[in-house]
Amino acid sequence: MELRHLLSIDDLTPEELQGIVEWAISVKLDDGLFEEFTPLSGMTIGSIYEKPSTRTRVSFEVGIDRLGGNPLTLLKNDIQLGSSETVADTAAVLSRYLGAITYRCFAHGDVVELAAGAQVPVINALSDLHHPCQAAADVMTILENHPNSEDVRIAWIGDGNNVLHDLMLAAAALGMSITYAVPKGYEPDADVVKRTDKLAKESGAKIRMTHDPVDAVTGANVIYTDVFVSMGEEHLSDKMSDFSGFQVNEELVANADDDYIFMHCLPAHRGEEVTDGVMDSNNSVVFDQAENRMWAQMSLLTFLIHPAAWAAFAELH
Ligand code: CP
Ligand code: NVA
Repeated sequence: MELRHLLSIDDLTPEELQGIVEWAISVKLDDGLFEEFTPLSGMTIGSIYEKPSTRTRVSFEVGIDRLGGNPLTLLKNDIQLGSSETVADTAAVLSRYLGAITYRCFAHGDVVELAAGAQVPVINALSDLHHPCQAAADVMTILENHPNSEDVRIAWIGDGNNVLHDLMLAAAALGMSITYAVPKGYEPDADVVKRTDKLAKESGAKIRMTHDPVDAVTGANVIYTDVFVSMGEEHLSDKMSDFSGFQVNEELVANADDDYIFMHCLPAHRGEEVTDGVMDSNNSVVFDQAENRMWAQMSLLTFLIHPAAWAAFAELH
């Protein structure tokens, strides 16, 4: 069986991503499934965290358990990874025990190195460059609300960061249009932009950058933001002042379609990138989005670890 990893969302073809999202939606709707569907039975899946996590950790642990597997969480300070053991040696050792490894790290190069040294699938659970599991749940949530990709017009307001990178790749892959408003100097990574443009050319998605949040939000039916200062950037305290005018508030969202959905990967810094009024409005789908992390990751885990079981389930639904 071919060994596959998920380091960024474009490690999947557009067709695979579409299938993974549809599978996740089917599983979510199928209440009785877990009594008989246990593709990870007899397997332990390890998850390494170098940074804190609420959603990623809990959604992986519960999702693995629901698929019949055993979740094992490994916190950076409790294992030898780093100063006393290389990433590559850790990968080789863990591959002898585990069915797959998820890894939340600082430098994206570390998850690349872990995957290069592993003999089991490695899933990026957030790095400074990519957050593919978030993007899978995000496009799932968007499709639950707007089932036709061609109708989707996403406005990203904020930093050109890891969450935007995989969101724009996923949107372009599925033919959803996205306009991202970022302050000057906070543009997304040039290589990710190039990969996004290539996917958009194939799908027909329109991708546009602006420095004006009102421009991005006008006519949008999805508005998405994230914290202005990401984990690992806490020393960049000056960064906040560059985001003045980029708060998603009642005045800004008044420019969007009336039935726009508000999205945020969470955790949100209420009063900074988003107001309580928007977060708690009827347009907000942030908690559905958080729940969908679990369903999307169950689909990804089964697809990467036990593709035959994934395909058999897809056939039936
Ligand atoms: N969205 C997300 O990845 O949340 P956590 O940092 O809580 O895992
Ligand atoms: N951009 C944020 C996302 C957290 C889920 C970070 O990297 O901290």
